[in-house]
Amino acid sequence: MTESQNSRTSRESADVVVLGAGPAGLVLGILLHAAGIDCVILERASRTHVQTRARAGFLAPNTVRILDRHGLADGLHRHGRRHGTCEFRTEEGRFRLDYGALGQGAQHHVYPQQNLVTDLLTHYLDIGGRIRFDTEALAVRDADGTRPSVTTRAPDGRPTRWTARYVAGCDGRHGAARRSLPPDAVRHHHDHGVTWLGLLAETPPSLDAVGYAIHDRGFAGHMARTPEVTRYYLQWQRGVPADAWPEQRIWDELDVRMRAADHGPLHRGAFLERGMFDLTCDVIEPLRHGSLFLAGDAASLLAPAAAKGANLAVLEAEILAGALIDAMTLGDEGGLDGYSDQCLAYIWRAQEFTGWMTRLLHAAPDRDEGAGSSFHAALRRSRLTSLRASRIHQEWFAENYVGV
Ligand code: APR
Repeated sequence: MTESQNSRTSRESADVVVLGAGPAGLVLGILLHAAGIDCVILERASRTHVQTRARAGFLAPNTVRILDRHGLADGLHRHGRRHGTCEFRTEEGRFRLDYGALGQGAQHHVYPQQNLVTDLLTHYLDIGGRIRFDTEALAVRDADGTRPSVTTRAPDGRPTRWTARYVAGCDGRHGAARRSLPPDAVRHHHDHGVTWLGLLAETPPSLDAVGYAIHDRGFAGHMARTPEVTRYYLQWQRGVPADAWPEQRIWDELDVRMRAADHGPLHRGAFLERGMFDLTCDVIEPLRHGSLFLAGDAASLLAPAAAKGANLAVLEAEILAGALIDAMTLGDEGGLDGYSDQCLAYIWRAQEFTGWMTRLLHAAPDRDEGAGSSFHAALRRSRLTSLRASRIHQEWFAENYVGV
């Protein structure tokens, strides 16, 4: 930063600076503020964008317990809907796995994430929480010491330097926290070799379950979002643009892969959104670097096959909040010292199941053509047969599908 910039740089401070106002950052900010910790959330997007960014809301029981514990689940209980069944459709027919009736009878709550984020943000503001929208964090500096700082850029370009005691990176996989990690930070990365075309259809759900269609032409998925909007996924050729197919052709392909001729038609409607993304995942290790802590997508990214991202984000935020509160009110840093190992155990468990689920749903990636793909196909059939027939396997699935 040049001398003149330095002179123009405004200075701010907080005991804890939280980067990002997604599920992780907002839950963390709420719990810290409620405990009397001086914190601020720095969010690069506008309030409107944060509150309207449509994301899946597939909340696990543990997430609901955490939100309940802190009085943050009113909207979820009023408007969310319980989900406890998956329907697998394969060449052998379809079978329903009522995971909500297995194991501890745990179900998901379906509640669009933008609604949850709006509830959290409203609560944070109502309790007097500090947040700066349209404020992009550029870098975290001096995290190896006890006075880290965050440089930010406001909409008018004016630079600001925030000094803190701790910085919580909840700004996702492309945020400033990850960019500021020291060279010894390890990033475990895996590309499942699969690409999805995500579709948001203006149409009521066609199934009363989460639909997973396994087909030689590729995977197709169905997830109710609200009574009027449904999320579909199509396994997609990597490199083909998302708008390459007209709507009619997409619906015809969904019909084929979800075997609509055998199991009933899909409700068709306009696609409000289309987005293409590769199924990749990564984990940063460790999650603590001096006074900088990572949570949510900044800590690890999961492929969406089991919808675990937001659930891990809320769990990590509660754990980090408890550790920071102990450190700042009791001088006890034990929670902070154990934060990384504790959360990494949950993250790797979620990564393992998500990897298993991704391999179950998709033909071998293009790179595995040849003998590998026929072996993979036989393996997949065997897994599906076991999941269809074995109660023990179904209990294992239920525990991992809704567990975090
Ligand atoms: N400065 C400030 N804010 C930033 C920056 C930055 N440099 N980069 C990103 N952000 C903000 C984004 O605008 C977003 O609001 O950080 C927030 C990150 O929120 P999420 O992406 O929702 O991540 P997280 O809170 O970790 O939630 C994880 O929730 O979004 C779902 O399923 C998704 O798995 C994901 C989960």
